Amino acid sequence: MKAIRFEQFGEPDQVLKVVDVPDPVPGQGEVLIRMLATPINPSDLLVVRGRYGVLPKLPATPGFEGVGIVEGAGSGLYGKLLIGKRVAVLNGAGGNWAEKVVIPAIRAIPAPSDISDEQVASFFVNPATAIAMTRHVLNVPRGAWLLQSAAGSTLGKMIIKLGKREGFKTLNVVRRREAIDELKALGGDAVISSSEGPIDAQVRSIVGEEGVKYAIDPVGGETGSQVFKALGDDSHMLVYGLLSDQNIQFDPRAMISGKRVIEGFWLGHWMVSRSKVKSLLLFREIFRLIRDGTLASDRGQTMPIEAITDAVRAAEVVGRQGKVLLTFGK
Ligand SMILES: NC(=O)c1ccc[n+]([C@@H]2O[C@H](COP(=O)([O-])OP(=O)(O)OC[C@H]3O[C@@H](n4cnc5c(N)ncnc54)[C@H](OP(=O)(O)O)[C@@H]3O)[C@@H](O)[C@H]2O)c1
Repeated sequence: MKAIRFEQFGEPDQVLKVVDVPDPVPGQGEVLIRMLATPINPSDLLVVRGRYGVLPKLPATPGFEGVGIVEGAGSGLYGKLLIGKRVAVLNGAGGNWAEKVVIPAIRAIPAPSDISDEQVASFFVNPATAIAMTRHVLNVPRGAWLLQSAAGSTLGKMIIKLGKREGFKTLNVVRRREAIDELKALGGDAVISSSEGPIDAQVRSIVGEEGVKYAIDPVGGETGSQVFKALGDDSHMLVYGLLSDQNIQFDPRAMISGKRVIEGFWLGHWMVSRSKVKSLLLFREIFRLIRDGTLASDRGQTMPIEAITDAVRAAEVVGRQGKVLLTFGK
């Protein structure tokens, strides 16, 4: 079968190659999946660059998400019951950018037939993170402001729509002025651009001198530092990505006397704390919210794995619309 591999960490358009490798064989409790499509997410590219929190042994194949058809199973009844089903492929170890993938059967999530391959491929990472951060970790109350940076991201747009649904207000930061109108039309209660001056001052001119109580930031660097400055007393900020690859700077006095809490969020850790039943209920809710559009991902470019070099470049074009989706020939 064909798989995308890298033998050393580096720039994705330099180190990723399409290679022929033996088909994987499912072991006990595992299923063999023929992949249909897999998105290119920022986390996949961080792995390839060697900048993710957890890194694979090399050579490795990237890819945490995707959609495919279960074609085989090792020993164990549940896996055999999945044969022939179309599933979301949750691959916490990475490796979905390949024609065939083996994962534990419990991580192959059967997909309702009315949800497109494209949506099933991106069914979990962003939708679950949007729900987990706003509802379970921050628990943003109705009527409160949530400040978020990189608000034009796939995840940022989901949070805007969740805010409309659940009653919290979003104060959205983008890096390009051109993105403002789109996010307002989507339901963003306020949208500002970091290119128009310090985020902190812009935020206080909207919410008042007291600042915000809730904030999330996947950018870091100057943007993350400014988001921290925009917090008021007794507030909570989640850092969940590092798109700028730059550290956040903050004044510890604001944390000590101002009771500002800054915390990291990683979906992998959060899921470990969920029971099986709660995970199943979450999957069911996400499919429902994809169906009504709240947690649907925007449609982006679809490219075959053979075009991996162009595809990873396309995934990082400034102002890109929708996810780049890799597809498989057979
Ligand atoms: N911790 C977790 O468990 C977890 C789970 C899911 C996602 N994430 C993180 O969430 C973030 C968003 O993911 P996604 O899939 O929604 O991304 P995406 O759709 O690929 O969008 C990326 C967005 O980030 C913006 N951006 C990129 N580099 C930036 C920079 N240096 N400064 C400011 N903005 C920048 C882009 O702005 P333009 O529109 O201007 O190009 C774009 O809107 C990523 O960092 C991802 O790793 C974390």
